[in-house]
Amino acid sequence: MQNTQERITAARERLGSRLTILAHHYQHDDVVRHADYLGDSLELSRKIDGLDSEFIVFCGVFFMAESAATLARPGQKIYIPDIEASCVMSEMAPAPLVETVYNRLTESGRKLIPLAYVNTSAAVKAVCGKNGGTVCTSANAPKMLKWALSQGDGVLFLPDKQLAQNTSNTLGIPEEKRHILDIRKNGQQIDLDAAAQADVVIWPGQCVIHSRFTTNAIKAVRKSMPQAKVIVHPECPPEVVELADDAGSTSKIIDFVEAAAEGDTIVIGTETNLVGRLANQYAGKKTILPLATSLCSNMGKITEDKLLCLLESIEQTEDVTVSDSIRKPAQDALERMLAASA
Ligand code: 13P
Ligand code: SF4
Repeated sequence: MQNTQERITAARERLGSRLTILAHHYQHDDVVRHADYLGDSLELSRKIDGLDSEFIVFCGVFFMAESAATLARPGQKIYIPDIEASCVMSEMAPAPLVETVYNRLTESGRKLIPLAYVNTSAAVKAVCGKNGGTVCTSANAPKMLKWALSQGDGVLFLPDKQLAQNTSNTLGIPEEKRHILDIRKNGQQIDLDAAAQADVVIWPGQCVIHSRFTTNAIKAVRKSMPQAKVIVHPECPPEVVELADDAGSTSKIIDFVEAAAEGDTIVIGTETNLVGRLANQYAGKKTILPLATSLCSNMGKITEDKLLCLLESIEQTEDVTVSDSIRKPAQDALERMLAASA
C-alpha cells in the first residue's frame, strides 16, 4: 500500500505538465518536497505568467492563491489545499473599511496613493488599482514606496505598520512625516489633520508571528553568542530590525545564510519552518538558530494529506476565483508592481 508521499507522486505523474505546484518558504518540509517552485511572495507572483499548466496549486495562504488567480490567464485554474488558510494580517484590512478610510482621507482633494502590501485581499488590491495605487512585497517595499511617493502627495501604506515604519526608515522619511491611523469606529476616529501633515499614512495592522521577536531576544544573543549574526524579516517591529545585523524578505534571508562563511552562526527572526529547513540544510557547516520559535498556524493548515486530497480530486474541485469587478483593478495594481520591480 502506498503512503501519502507516494500517492502524491503518483497523482503528480498522472497530471504531468497539466499541474504545477508552487509553495511559499514557510511551508512544512512534507509539503515543500512536492513543490515545483519554492519562493517568496514576489517570486511566486512572478511565476504565474510563465506557467502553461492548467492546474496551479498554491501551497501558502489564501491571499497568495488569490493574487495568482488575479494574474492567471484564461484557462489557468488556481487551487489551494485548504481554503481556510488565511493570513491574519491581511484580515486586519477589510476592503469596505479600506475604501471608507481612503475616501475620508482624500475628501479634501488630496492625491494620496494607496500602497498595499501583497498580504491583502484582492478586493483591497482593487481599491489600490482604482486609485492609482499599487502593491509591494517585503522584497521590493522601498522601491515601491519611493514609486508611490513620486505619484502623488502622500501614500496610504497598508496593512502592516511594521513594514511601513521599517521601509520609511530605509528611505530616511522622518518620523514626524508619518502618521498611524486610528481606524476604530469604522474610521470615524481618524485624525484628519495629523494624516494631512504626513507623507506616509499608516494602517495599524501587523503580523502576530513576527511581533513575537523582541529586542531582549537579540540582546540575549549578543551576550551569549557575540560572534553570531542576526537577520530578521521586516514584518518585525522597527526596534528589532534596528538591533539586527540585517533584515529582508524570506529570499533575502536564504541568500544571507548562503553567503555566510562556513563555521558562522546565524540567528534568524522569521517563521520557524524556514529557519528549521535552513538549519537542516547547513547542518555541520553553519549554525542556524531561531531568534524565537514562531509558527504561522495558517501556513501550517496546508498539510501533505490535504495536498493529496486536492490532487486526487482536482478535476472535481472548485478553483479560487476573483470576481470580474475586482479582478481588473486588482490586476492593474499587481501589474504596476511587477513592471516597477522587474
Ligand atoms: P515574503 O514575501 O518575505 O516571503 O513574506 C511573506 C510573508 O507572509 C511573511 O510573513
Ligand atoms: Fe500572514 Fe504573518 Fe503568516 Fe506571513 S507569517 S502569512 S504575514 S500571519
